[in-house]
Amino acid sequence: MAIILDGKKLRDKILNDLRQKLDRFDKKPTLVVVLVGDNAASKIYVANKKKTAQSLGINSVIIELPSETKEEELLSKINELNNDESVTAILVQLPLPKHISQKNIINAIKPEKDVDGFTPYNFGRLFSGYEPLVYPCTPKGVLLLLDEYNIELDGKHVVVIGRSNIVGRPLSQMLLNRNATVTVCHSHTKNLAQITKTADIVISAVGKKIIEGEMLKSDCVIVDVGIFKDENGKTRGDADFETASRIASYISPVPGGVGPMTIASLMLNTVELFEKMINKS
Ligand code: GUN
Repeated sequence: MAIILDGKKLRDKILNDLRQKLDRFDKKPTLVVVLVGDNAASKIYVANKKKTAQSLGINSVIIELPSETKEEELLSKINELNNDESVTAILVQLPLPKHISQKNIINAIKPEKDVDGFTPYNFGRLFSGYEPLVYPCTPKGVLLLLDEYNIELDGKHVVVIGRSNIVGRPLSQMLLNRNATVTVCHSHTKNLAQITKTADIVISAVGKKIIEGEMLKSDCVIVDVGIFKDENGKTRGDADFETASRIASYISPVPGGVGPMTIASLMLNTVELFEKMINKS
């Protein structure tokens, strides 16, 4: 049976260290999360982010805007937060309602406050081999989890499934920076099983049941970023845990794997941006 990559345990360790660090700060960071519309999952994620931030002594505010909010109105809100010196980190929860251009909104966030590392400035730096101010939260959490279990990346074939700007794209770059051989698969990929069969590490970020044990190489590592509710209302990941955990040497569970690591990374990023801001002034 595979060893469980325990994201909750590592999250707790990271948050405890951060709490102690923040206790030594005179001033605290302020994380503002902007939520547009009433996506049920987003509401839960955002509440979780605020609760975790506050448990560390990070000031956290959620700005909730109705789903009819116009792009210009949201841009003007971002502008206000950019110029507000008391705000040190801005996160616009994705997805946004369809009538708002995600690109335009993210592009409007001041890179120094871009706690997701999603702005063209930070993304561009990541993709051209410079250090971004912070690394995107979920990819960062995935790498922290693999490192915690001393899983080697150098020279390994890592198959990333999904090419979103939130996970697949930045993660593939971060893996390349760690000298992995990276294959990025997506909805148009043919013969997925043939590719995953050759993977030392499979990282799946799709949100559908797509991985079964028979698609995997013996003793591979599975990092399951997908999360959704199945037909019985049960929370589950992209991998069929039953069959996959019999083939793999390590597997991250859903829930309790990557999800907690994303939150931990967000808290790390909030503190990193704050420290950069303080050191600059
Ligand atoms: N929606 C799902 N994951 C994320 C994330 O990491 N950041 C933001 N802003 N929205 C998300």
